[in-house]
Amino acid sequence: MRFVPFPVFPEQASTLSTRTDHLLYYLLGISGLMTVLIAGCILFFAIRYRRGPGNEHATQVAGSHRLELAWTAAPLVFFLVMYAWGADIYFWAYTPPKDALEITGIGKQWMWKFQHLSGQREINELHVPVGRAVKVLLASQDVIHSFYVPAFRVKQDAIPGRYSEVWFEATVPGRYHLFCAEYCGTLHSGMIGWVVAMEPSAFQEWLGGGPTMSPAQRGEKLFQDLGCNTCHRADALARCPELGGLFGRPVQLQNGQVVTGDEAYIRESILDPGAKVVAGYENIMPTFKGLVTEEGILDLIAYIRSLTPAEKAGP
Ligand code: CUA
Repeated sequence: MRFVPFPVFPEQASTLSTRTDHLLYYLLGISGLMTVLIAGCILFFAIRYRRGPGNEHATQVAGSHRLELAWTAAPLVFFLVMYAWGADIYFWAYTPPKDALEITGIGKQWMWKFQHLSGQREINELHVPVGRAVKVLLASQDVIHSFYVPAFRVKQDAIPGRYSEVWFEATVPGRYHLFCAEYCGTLHSGMIGWVVAMEPSAFQEWLGGGPTMSPAQRGEKLFQDLGCNTCHRADALARCPELGGLFGRPVQLQNGQVVTGDEAYIRESILDPGAKVVAGYENIMPTFKGLVTEEGILDLIAYIRSLTPAEKAGP
């Protein structure tokens, strides 16, 4: 356990927590200073210039431009520092490093479900290595939930119908509270768990003890179970776009628009195929809404992401 300057604060266990706390100390310091200054002036003037013998009538005092300039400029500098400092931390906190370890998380009434790229799945527990940036791609199966780890100073909503992401780098091994910070129904208060930060070697060992099927492998199986492969294929019988190499690539649509083949696009195309039809194809794909869970969609995305462009089969 590390030194905590104010015991009311949660412990600091991520690279973000120290940065956020330093800014907060600054905010508290400035606010405290201002409060003392203003309250002190009120008190001092109230006593010093109180009504009494020889002081029955107020005297008119002329303003001082220098004084006014000074008490405008000085706080402005302190407040602009808040802005610049806060903006710097904000952009840093919302820009996951490229090499971050990717994990998917799904909020549902009333639990957190996580899945690692190697296939390990867990409920209300999230194991992560220390000293490595971790990015959690969040989705919700039903209503808005919020992924909140006070010791890491991170909070991000999991919103139905779209993906959001949050990243952090744990610095101290240990078990940390995981909460849902958005009221999501009767058992909202029970939607809690633990983030377990482990030494990298222990984490690798932990990962090794899981199931052997990766999300991409599960996605491939689902792709066949749902019959996607009857239309999305690389040969002459293909009636739908070939999916190899789709991920991250620009996609030309029927209406002339160009979109990126990212998680959000693939998810929308599975649930609402008519929304963005690829140029040169007809809108013949049925919706898979209700037939595939959010977890299933993430598996399908992992599978599509793993595909490489196939050689076009000859006639
Ligand atoms: Cu989920 Cu509150």
